[in-house]
Amino acid sequence: MHLTRLRLHDFRCFEAAEIQPEPTINVITGDNASGKTTLLEAIYFLGRGQSFRQSGPRPAIRAGADAFTVTGEIAVPDGRAHRLGVSRDKRGIRYRKDGEADTSRIDLINTLPLQMVDPNVHRLLEQGPRYRRHFLDWGVFHVEHAFFPAWRRFRRALKQRNRALKARLPKPDIIVWDAELVRAAEIVDASRRAYIDHLYENLPSRTARLLGNEPVILDYDCGWRGDHGYGAALAAGLDQDLRAGFTQQGPHRADLRVSIASASARDWVSRGQQKILTTAMLLTQAQLLYVRRHVRPVLLIDDMAAELGRRYREVLAEEIAALGGQCFLTFLEPGLVPEAVRGGAMFHVEHGVVTRG
Ligand SMILES: Nc1ncnc2c1ncn2[C@@H]1O[C@H](COP(=O)(O)OP(=O)(O)OP(=O)(O)O)[C@@H](O)[C@H]1O
Ligand SMILES: [Mg+2]
Repeated sequence: MHLTRLRLHDFRCFEAAEIQPEPTINVITGDNASGKTTLLEAIYFLGRGQSFRQSGPRPAIRAGADAFTVTGEIAVPDGRAHRLGVSRDKRGIRYRKDGEADTSRIDLINTLPLQMVDPNVHRLLEQGPRYRRHFLDWGVFHVEHAFFPAWRRFRRALKQRNRALKARLPKPDIIVWDAELVRAAEIVDASRRAYIDHLYENLPSRTARLLGNEPVILDYDCGWRGDHGYGAALAAGLDQDLRAGFTQQGPHRADLRVSIASASARDWVSRGQQKILTTAMLLTQAQLLYVRRHVRPVLLIDDMAAELGRRYREVLAEEIAALGGQCFLTFLEPGLVPEAVRGGAMFHVEHGVVTRG
């Protein structure tokens, strides 16, 4: 599965642009503010239905224009092709798959699985559990098929329970949601645990190649306390939940901490090593998706050279190339492009104009 054509219309600095990427490596070079990250962002919109930048989709409309459109053609291994489109105007955002207007974000996510490595990837280690949960659940979503329906059920029941807590309803009106929460949480938790086991089997060999033999430890926190299951944790935490006005424990509070040897990764490793470690985690996820579902996700790797010296750039590029899927990598200058990814297509961006080298 890979992108065969990408078209942008009034998307940030691009008035109109089109590229026909290669199924494997695509390198994008260009000066600061030329539009490199924007090209990756456009692809990300196609596969995720939203931006990875904090600001949301509206600012992505080119200054002076009323709407942006991003369209992509996707080739799937069985020979079929799909067209995906995302557009945003004053009324909101719209998704299309093969011309169908009732396309959802989940349709996009399933049609174009993609993973992003941006220059802030180390925040996976440094910042709160939300990023790590997001990382974990991306993999769980694509690989463990029981996960998403259960997660959706859990979110719905959680919303109801929180509403009841906030309104300070009598206890029976709050705990009436617990059975559904517990049923859904058990599936979510089991899916995450199964996925982490696979991650554990595959991550150490990759980190060993990249970082040396310091053991990497993944420490999963399911999001609730005690050894008697989620139902017991909910019952024990009810008074606290009433005081807080929301449900404090559950799979929505899960975490996946990463450490090297005995120290937490963010205390131990340098910034460059953090980047290598987190990128290794993302690449392992991509590999797992192929091993388990025969899907190679598209990788978007922004400013790969940032904070990495030549040696690290080279080993990382070798790992990326070895995955064999479609990848888009950006660099400020051609001189920074590692040997292992020089064989692919080269694109150059200048003031919102892309040319193929
Ligand atoms: N809505 C918009 N309309 C017009 N231009 C925009 C809009 N949003 C962002 N831009 C401009 O798009 C340009 C490209 O930004 P982008 O982040 O893609 O650059 P980049 O090549 O990744 O740069 P860097 O190497 O510094 O990361 C910037 O000059 C930015 O100001
Ligand atoms: Mg950029």
